[in-house]
Amino acid sequence: MGASPAQDGRSNAHSRWSALCTAGLVAPSRQPKLLVAFFSRTGTTRRLAEHIARATGADLEELREAKSRRGIWGWLRSGYEGTYRRSAEVLPLGHNLRDYDLVFVGSPTWNRALASPVRGFLEQYASELSNVALFATCQGRGASDVLEQMSELLKKPPLATLAMIEMDVKHGPAVQVGELSEAALRAWEKSEG
Ligand SMILES: Cc1cc2nc3c(=O)[nH]c(=O)nc-3n(C[C@H](O)[C@H](O)[C@H](O)COP(=O)(O)O)c2cc1C
Repeated sequence: MGASPAQDGRSNAHSRWSALCTAGLVAPSRQPKLLVAFFSRTGTTRRLAEHIARATGADLEELREAKSRRGIWGWLRSGYEGTYRRSAEVLPLGHNLRDYDLVFVGSPTWNRALASPVRGFLEQYASELSNVALFATCQGRGASDVLEQMSELLKKPPLATLAMIEMDVKHGPAVQVGELSEAALRAWEKSEG
């Protein structure tokens, strides 16, 4: 059985780190600890999160809930919560956010709004996030609205953002992920002085 993307991300983190240093993106003196935290109902945001983790050697934190959102009722509930800007509680995290220099946070778009579990996550944990880069997926329109809503909840500007449509994620987001990672790491380097 092959390694999962998360395992693969960890086992190859050092070689990716070396590549980032060689590319001049980050100084070799200090390796930032990176995390990708995301929610995904049908797999698209997960796929993008895994690409980001692979590209940067970041750890992965999938935001989970006690209750499933599968099926028509899950879809209807998600749409309602998006429309009315509701937040949903996420299960306890597997990683300590304070251990990370930079956290990538990702969400799907629900009725041109942030997914309720990601809203819940940001409401609960924004104060523990020092540097954040944001990404959002959608079917056609609304991911940029989601990025704005996430920035508002953070109460500080993100280091970098990426909005992508589902089809582009499926076709391979390597270029966009490279740009997001580069922008975020450069901004982090700058903030470190
Ligand atoms: C309830 C609901 C509302 C949605 N609203 C939008 C929308 O307003 N605009 C859009 O482009 N896509 C919308 N979508 C599509 C998802 O944002 C898109 O498929 C996303 O990539 C799914 O991510 P996931 O597979 O990680 O859950 C919606 C999906 C659901 C379930």
